[in-house]
Amino acid sequence: MRLIIRQDYDEASSYVAHYIRERIIQFAPTKNRPFVLGLPTGSTPIGVYRKLIEFYEAGKLSFKHVVTFNMDEYVGLPRNHPESYHTFMCSQLFDHIDIPKENVNLLDGNATDLDAECRRFEATIANLGGIELFFGGIGPDGHIAFNEPASSLTSRTRVKTLAYETIIANARFFDGDISKVPKLALTVGVATVMDAREVCILITGAHKSVALAKCIEEGVNHLWTVSAIQMHPKGLIVCDEDSTLEL
Ligand code: GLP
Repeated sequence: MRLIIRQDYDEASSYVAHYIRERIIQFAPTKNRPFVLGLPTGSTPIGVYRKLIEFYEAGKLSFKHVVTFNMDEYVGLPRNHPESYHTFMCSQLFDHIDIPKENVNLLDGNATDLDAECRRFEATIANLGGIELFFGGIGPDGHIAFNEPASSLTSRTRVKTLAYETIIANARFFDGDISKVPKLALTVGVATVMDAREVCILITGAHKSVALAKCIEEGVNHLWTVSAIQMHPKGLIVCDEDSTLEL
């Protein structure tokens, strides 16, 4: 596992955006299949998405041969709800780049059979030959996607009850009202993320400093699910200086 420390949020985001761009460009001419990219939501990836859009607008990057899989989605929130992850991804990235609509894969939190929806998602990833690069963020409690503390490190895409801390943390997107935050989500599992050939996690802000320390200075621990990255042959953590306070 590698750790890259950059001065602040913008520099860390820029590093990750350049990293993703390089991977997409290097991959394109050598393979007969699309570049499969895992993507997160949350406030953390916004700077990376902004930069990727800049690359596209400057003609320095195309997403025509990129297929994406998003990490998670709330259960029961209408697809066009302003806080659904579907809406977030369209407004923060997909509406601004040349990715074909059929290349975008998002979990359907309104599926009538949620378990079948999770199996479908895993099967779609497998049919494409797996994920090349999974880009992710973490919650302050060290969770990746919605793999809350105590999630199995061998978990796959499934329905998950959100931890109270996550509901509180995400209430800021729902008028600060925890009663409006969905209590269930569909999420890729820890193993779904770790199966990717590369994993890149962006961690910024002092409020994530304990999680970063737990992730890299302590053992692999299902209470801090991001720590599974220690076992990954091509794991990369990119962070800002604020998040290194506890190292
Ligand atoms: C949610 C998402 C995670 C994300 C986390 C942190 O829990 N499911 O994928 O990493 O929020 O969000 P933020 O980047 O806003 O701190």
